Amino acid sequence: MQEGDLAEADRIFRLAFGTFLGLPDPAQFHQGAEFIRARWSADPSATFAAKSEGQLAGTNFGTNWGSVGFFGPLTVHPDYWDRGIGKLLMEPIMDLFVRWGTTHAGLFTFAQSQKHVGLYQRFGFWPRFLTAIMSKPVKQTGGSSAKLFSALSAEEREAVLKTADEMTGEIFDGLSLKRVIEAIASQKLGDTVLLGTGSRLVALGVCHCGAGTEAGPETCYIKFGAARPGTKAGGNFDRLLSACETLAAQRGLSKLIAGVNTARIEAYQQMLAMGFRTDFQGVEMHRPNQPGYSRSGAFVIDDWR
Ligand SMILES: CC(C)(COP(=O)(O)OP(=O)(O)OC[C@H]1O[C@@H](n2cnc3c(N)ncnc32)[C@H](O)[C@@H]1OP(=O)(O)O)[C@@H](O)C(=O)NCCC(=O)NCCS
Repeated sequence: MQEGDLAEADRIFRLAFGTFLGLPDPAQFHQGAEFIRARWSADPSATFAAKSEGQLAGTNFGTNWGSVGFFGPLTVHPDYWDRGIGKLLMEPIMDLFVRWGTTHAGLFTFAQSQKHVGLYQRFGFWPRFLTAIMSKPVKQTGGSSAKLFSALSAEEREAVLKTADEMTGEIFDGLSLKRVIEAIASQKLGDTVLLGTGSRLVALGVCHCGAGTEAGPETCYIKFGAARPGTKAGGNFDRLLSACETLAAQRGLSKLIAGVNTARIEAYQQMLAMGFRTDFQGVEMHRPNQPGYSRSGAFVIDDWR
């Protein structure tokens, strides 16, 4: 995908989802939130466009989290639905996963749509547990706060990225959020909340903040959050959510959004107990058909949108 495709890709993204969801004005889907430009800017080589007679017909985006890879948003202009363009846009993504050495690939989609589930099954992805996209109002003032990635020096950032990889590697071998932490910092999309003692990180939360990011207006979106496995994981997960809420309050945002796969049952139940409620839910599909880190005992937030 080229930079010149961005505006039309954004228009098709909103139109496709808005049409599928039956919005009165489909073009208004997720207005104020920005997915397309940020993902293209993070790694143009992982973005793909399909054209028909010179017109953009659809786009797809790959995301590299080390050994874990996922894709989306995959969107095709409604005028071109059911003509094989979605399948076409899956092919370079499958090649990417081979090139990246992805050991666990996945996606998040509409659980109720046999078309979506059937399309992805063709490529070896199988439906697993639901992922709940949850939210709560930002109420807290003076709760837990934490170090922020944006406040660190270049050397400190290097050290944090290393301990972050080491921590997420304990959750799933090779899982790395390095690229997303750096992209959020360089594009100023939000911040990464860090909890730990000395050089040992015990939890981290990668947040998009406000309009023009994946969060949207008034909102803080925890794109990825995790606590280091062990006996203190539950407590650290609690502190992490509280620190993300503090970040939201400091930024003047009124809503906190976080997605959790329901197979991570303790994390899901803890979020319910903290006052998060589900706004909508979808299904995670995995290739191979293995749990990855969507399993009991994993205190992890993410939703692969
Ligand atoms: C989902 C979307 C990307 C699919 O694109 P598309 O170009 O219409 O899809 P294609 O024509 O390439 O693929 C159709 C495939 O879907 C699957 N499919 C369709 N109907 C199906 C059904 N009833 N049961 C099972 N599988 C079905 C089949 O695999 C079919 O291919 P086949 O007929 O060769 O077997 C497009 O509809 C879209 O943009 N939707 C709105 C946005 C969206 O939902 N994006 C995906 C979010 S995860």
